[in-house]
Amino acid sequence: MANHLNTHFNPFTPVDAEEVTFAAGVTSLNELCALLLCDPDDSILLIGPVYGSFTRDLTTKTSVNLEYVHVGEKDQFSPDSIAEIETGFEAAKARGKNVKALFICNPHNPLGRCYSRETLTGLLRLCAKKGIHLVSDEIYALSVYERDDRPSETFTSVRSIDCTGIISSDQVHVLYGMSKVVQISRYTESERRQC
Ligand SMILES: Cc1ncc(COP(=O)(O)O)c(C=O)c1O
Repeated sequence: MANHLNTHFNPFTPVDAEEVTFAAGVTSLNELCALLLCDPDDSILLIGPVYGSFTRDLTTKTSVNLEYVHVGEKDQFSPDSIAEIETGFEAAKARGKNVKALFICNPHNPLGRCYSRETLTGLLRLCAKKGIHLVSDEIYALSVYERDDRPSETFTSVRSIDCTGIISSDQVHVLYGMSKVVQISRYTESERRQC
């Protein structure tokens, strides 16, 4: 898996096998992150619209609350949205919510868009400023297709960003799984064996 991530995620520093934690799919990884990062009654911030099963995966066994931020007319994949997300965080805090993490999905389900490097860096800075974790569900990393309307939009993994001076790497979690990989046939035989 470390080889796979090093081949396809362009990590800023190579992923070491010892850094990788396995579970029975990204459903379980999302749940584990909620369990490990939050206490009962803590909150997780999500930017709407979201992958519908986040509700089930993040709350069923955890007693965690979900707080949804909507960025209105702003494009949530561009840095313009960061101020709205911060406002959403502050609004949740004002309602007495103890937000422990921001969960994003990149490439995004259901919108099929990718966060720009600048936006991801802004989100990392925001999480550092608020003292919360960033969890990036990157299950669709290898399922990005060129779009005529956005030819330059490509996938950037959070793992490819140098977090030095931005946020502690302990606060950043990248989730990936094989259940959506439709491009496996493009792999070389040796890559397939490494998967
Ligand atoms: C964004 C997202 N995360 C996680 C999952 C579930 O992943 P897994 O099949 O590895 O449990 C899905 C499945 O649709 C998904 O769309």
